[in-house]
Amino acid sequence: MNVKVEKPHPLCGAIVTGIDLSQVPNEETVNTVEDLMAEHAVLCIRGSRATDEQHIAFSRAFGPLELPPDMKIKSGFKPRIGYGLYDASNLDIEGNIVIKDSPRHKYSKGNELFHADSTFNSLPTKWSLLLAHVVPPEGGDTQFIDTREVYDALPEEMKQKIDGLVAEHNIWHSRARGGFTTVTDEMKKAMPPARHPVVRESANGRKAIYLGAHAANIVGMDPEEGLALIDEINAFATQPHFIYAHKWQDGDLVIWDNRCTLHRATAFEDQKYKRDMRRTTINEYGPEIASTSLSS
Ligand code: OGA
Ligand code: MN
Repeated sequence: MNVKVEKPHPLCGAIVTGIDLSQVPNEETVNTVEDLMAEHAVLCIRGSRATDEQHIAFSRAFGPLELPPDMKIKSGFKPRIGYGLYDASNLDIEGNIVIKDSPRHKYSKGNELFHADSTFNSLPTKWSLLLAHVVPPEGGDTQFIDTREVYDALPEEMKQKIDGLVAEHNIWHSRARGGFTTVTDEMKKAMPPARHPVVRESANGRKAIYLGAHAANIVGMDPEEGLALIDEINAFATQPHFIYAHKWQDGDLVIWDNRCTLHRATAFEDQKYKRDMRRTTINEYGPEIASTSLSS
């Protein structure tokens, strides 16, 4: 293996070449990727050009899949791509561009708020692996933040204040802020909030902030006060100097550790250009189940 690593930003991420996704990774590859992830937390494997099957096989070498929710009956979502993949594109089942302000379009807008994936469920989340099949000629960067850098930069007083706090993460909180308001009681019941510590230890032992857009309140705190604290830390975390904006090339596979990073989608001309992005999300351990019981 001839792996080359380049740092695109001083505080976040690495771009690598020399990792082959056409084979199920052997022990050496698994260890190399685990070590690179523990150090950099966001890793772009340039030119992977994996198929859906290779993408899934590669992901499973690092942990069981978190299956995407199957919402097709309830809200018009239908899978366009392979089983186990989240569709992060702006395309419908036929591959046509999703119309502006349709429910699916509004739902996706929530991705433009800094978040970590699936913090609203209680499964033991690990990484997301997003593969670019088609990228628009401009715009549509994904922005990343390493929240270990954020934790280190917090004032000592704030570190003490948040030590031991637990936040409640709720998908419907971030979707509402993103403009998606057509939530039914059934959807709420199927995806209830989950609790997680505000500060957690990352794979290399460094402490990381674990909040983002799904964090809705702090357990045991007045709801408004808790949300104000969450918003304050999220605002601190998303200062421009922390942000690495990944410019996608076709075939890039970007892996991020959801336990110590935040990310968000950014705008592009989504009524003009196709952007076909497919994602796996893996957990630390099994079973391979969806985060919600909302299914056909
Ligand atoms: C995701 C996500 C961002 C993007 O798939 O989890 O947030 O730029 N995607 O598509
Ligand atoms: Mn996401």
